[in-house]
Amino acid sequence: MRNTRVPMATAATAWTLLAGAAPLGCPQPEGAHDSAGATPATGADAPLVAPNGGSPPGTDSDDLALARADYAKYCAICHGETGEGYQADGANALAHPNFLASASDSMLFDAIAHGRVDTPMSAWSVNRAGPLQPSAIHRLVRLMRSWATMDAVDTEAIEVDGLASRGWPVWQVYCQDCHGEDGEGGQFMSVTAPNFLDHVTDGYLKYAVAKGRPGTPMPAYEHVLTRQELDDVVAMIRAWSWVQTPELSDYGDKLVNPMGTDPVFDADPRFVSVDTLKAALDAEAKLLILDARPPADFVTRHIQGAASLPFYEVEDHLDEIPRDVWIVTYCACPHAESEAAADVLLGAGFTNVRVLDEGFNVWVERGYPTAAGTR
Ligand code: HEC
Ligand code: HEC
Repeated sequence: MRNTRVPMATAATAWTLLAGAAPLGCPQPEGAHDSAGATPATGADAPLVAPNGGSPPGTDSDDLALARADYAKYCAICHGETGEGYQADGANALAHPNFLASASDSMLFDAIAHGRVDTPMSAWSVNRAGPLQPSAIHRLVRLMRSWATMDAVDTEAIEVDGLASRGWPVWQVYCQDCHGEDGEGGQFMSVTAPNFLDHVTDGYLKYAVAKGRPGTPMPAYEHVLTRQELDDVVAMIRAWSWVQTPELSDYGDKLVNPMGTDPVFDADPRFVSVDTLKAALDAEAKLLILDARPPADFVTRHIQGAASLPFYEVEDHLDEIPRDVWIVTYCACPHAESEAAADVLLGAGFTNVRVLDEGFNVWVERGYPTAAGTR
């Protein structure tokens, strides 16, 4: 018969095996053993006990039963039957006491709904073509909460005062072998996924690095690094994203066909059509094409050869934009942001400025060339 009372003990055993003989010096797994009796059983045949014995059987327990079924079907294959982790693909220990004590519900929900880019952790939400309704994701978050054996840590209260540039050498020496050169994940999990950084505080990061995840390969660094080094490496993770922001500078170097001649545009003093712009590019005309949308759009996809200059930044970069070339601004609105950008340029005395009339979406519909990334 399956043992229904020791999910944490099972997990702790797995962590201990992973950690080998290394003395990680954290009381956690032991404490977890003690409270295992109060932890709800996780087997399908287990009595339905409310989380931490807190509430009587009822809808809550029905929800947990549904969550256990979903968890067994979709998640256990990698994260282990009771959240002990490391069944496949280096999936982390979801039931780890330190993790659950510091992760917020919104972080857990978002991680399940949207996954972790470029890792084996998929997006599971129906809104991302996954199998899980938002209600099912909420239930899974509550199931994970029911595994907690430690009081919540107030990560907002943990002070962090570091400098990203000083964190870089610390990262290279201590962290990159496991987490990848740019934090993109390597041997173990990523730490710079945009929706991870959106949902964790600096205190969360510092707590994870200082205390580690005893019983997993993640060491505790509180006695290895100085306080300053800890803060610096956290500042670096925080300042860092592996989705690079395009550089907003040196627009003179960002011309299309810098050796070409000026384009021939229609009489319209304000707009140029997508077909006319395409024809100008085919004729190898010299142009500066400015993408006036926020950088996230530019990074996702932009007109090939364009440079990023968000409409709200134009004012700050006037000195870097050449005055002797034709400029075309565009956005997808089809021209709210691009007109705003053009108006700043015209107001600053630029004369050869046109706004792309139909906007970026029509450019894409026509099948005209686009590119992705930061250029
Ligand atoms: C021996 C491999 C290893 C080394 C070295 C290592 N880590 Fe980790 N790290 C891990 C693993 C494995 C986890 C996930 C543990 C778990 O299951 O909870 C982790 C988790 C983390 C987390 C929490 C991520 C999350 O999603 O909650 C952060 C932050 C982190 N590491 C930062 C660092 C930093 C900073 C360093 C260097 C000072 C470092 N790690 C060194 C293996 C490592
Ligand atoms: C194919 C294996 C796999 C499956 C299946 C899977 N995961 Fe994951 N999961 C991972 C990996 C690997 C990571 C670490 C991603 C990274 O590198 O940041 C992860 C990360 C997570 C995280 C974020 C942890 C953190 O600290 O950032 C949560 C929460 C999570 N998974 C929950 C689930 C749930 C719930 C399911 C089932 C609906 C599930 N996972 C299914 C492999 C998997």
